[in-house]
Amino acid sequence: MDAKATPIDRDWWKRRPVYQIYPRSFLDTNGDGVGDLVGITQGLTALKALGAGIVWLSPIFFSPMADNGYDMADYCRIDPRFGTMADFEALLAQAALLDLKIVLDIALNHTSIEHPWFVAAARDPTSPYRDFYHWREKPNNWHSIFGGPAWSQVPDGAYYLHLFDKTQADLNWDNPTVRQHIYEAMRFWLTKGVSGFRLDVVTVISKPAGLPDVADPSPGPLYKALAIGPNLHPWLREMRREVFDHYDCVAIGEGPGLNPVRAAQLVDPADPMLDMIYHFDFVDPPQRANQPWDRVWFKSVFSRWDQAIGPRGWNTCVLGNHDLRRLISRFGDQNVNDGQVAKALAAAYLLQRATPFIYQGDELGLGDTIITSFEDLNDVWAKTTYRLELEVGGTEAQALAKAAAMTRDHARTPYPWTPLGGFTTGTPWLKPTLNKGGVDLATQMADPNSVWSFYRFALKLREADPATWIFGAYEDIAPEHPDVFVFKRGEYGLVSINFGSQPYHLCDLDHNLLEGRRLLAAFGDVEGDQLGPWACCIFGRGN
Ligand code: GLC
Repeated sequence: MDAKATPIDRDWWKRRPVYQIYPRSFLDTNGDGVGDLVGITQGLTALKALGAGIVWLSPIFFSPMADNGYDMADYCRIDPRFGTMADFEALLAQAALLDLKIVLDIALNHTSIEHPWFVAAARDPTSPYRDFYHWREKPNNWHSIFGGPAWSQVPDGAYYLHLFDKTQADLNWDNPTVRQHIYEAMRFWLTKGVSGFRLDVVTVISKPAGLPDVADPSPGPLYKALAIGPNLHPWLREMRREVFDHYDCVAIGEGPGLNPVRAAQLVDPADPMLDMIYHFDFVDPPQRANQPWDRVWFKSVFSRWDQAIGPRGWNTCVLGNHDLRRLISRFGDQNVNDGQVAKALAAAYLLQRATPFIYQGDELGLGDTIITSFEDLNDVWAKTTYRLELEVGGTEAQALAKAAAMTRDHARTPYPWTPLGGFTTGTPWLKPTLNKGGVDLATQMADPNSVWSFYRFALKLREADPATWIFGAYEDIAPEHPDVFVFKRGEYGLVSINFGSQPYHLCDLDHNLLEGRRLLAAFGDVEGDQLGPWACCIFGRGN
């Protein structure tokens, strides 16, 4: 238990913003081109300065790295590429000094096929480890999320299930020994002092009995069909009893395929399974040809999740992560500079009634990278996409274009510490994103108008007035407006963002809107109550 825990600290995961680190790309201190734990330890001060309160590390466990650590080969060992257990303990000590909580990522739906459990299971059908995984003589119709069939064969001809890459074999959670092993690993890290887990694709751990064919086996519909399988609730309750209840920790479930109503059940304080659900409803804004993305839809996502979870459980707000193209390329506007786009999006997602999740680099307004050849790709999903395109007769150029458009490498490039990079003294494992000027930490920390400074402002605002900016009720006051996003927080908070290309007057929405409120911050073209394209004003308590 955290020695400093007081009753008010119990909801620390509601108050503390999360910063997600992608360890391979954060900071390399030994010159091998791959980020490491010593680098993370050194970088914590900068995260503290930003206003982060929880630091989530994408996987650091021992792994062959086919999916950069989401293919775990040992749940209780640090991968040597990242350092040693002593390095990790030093990281925890530094985090404690800075009052930062460390949350680890655990892939519990599957292991690497190099995990000793799978090695034993594949070698010998009579091994007790065989039942740790799902086997079939003939595959069902499920597709892997990464493309191609969800089944591959071991030398004896049996097929094993892998919802992701063929190197990631799905664990059979119906086997109680599997569950006990995972709980034990979690307790190992919690006892060491970590403050919780981000549970990778936890919603799909419970498969339907008999693994039947599904109507539409392509990734999106399959995820939906498998989300919240028959035993998910009992197993999460068991996990809570066996693990989370004994520590001061947070359980964050990655919830692909969930809708807010089903998510609300998982974080219901009356029957708590998880503390927060990390969802993807913001990922793909609908867009008609030659039209900007749909703002009304965007706003409706915030409202839907707030209405379902806000008053009882607790929400997350996630726009970017290591699996998505950068915010600028998904939500940007060619006529507006990237920095302003990044700030406007930040105003929208950091000030919700939810714990915001900031993905490394988004606080600088980092954009996508440029992929010019197959060698630029690292992402296993993108490489599969490339191969499948060639298999259906596409040219190399078509295969590359398809992979470049979806690859998760865009978000995984080295973190820009200085104008010249500063990530490594060696050759980086992935080509860095081109710095078009000013998109690096050193420059932005020194500039009060930078994206980084705006993030810091918004996070400090939550801290300074939690009744308004953390716990205050959320209300979208113009849900049908095609361009503007204006929402109230509590009695005093008001955020107004113009995502359109035309100026608008705030008082056109409501004459009394600004009464008793004081302007706390503004950027972009703002004159009186008029906001230009992508401008934003934030109001709080009056004098
Ligand atoms: C999650 C991770 C992703 C990984 C997948 C399989 O969605 O975020 O990076 O590839 O699970 O573990």
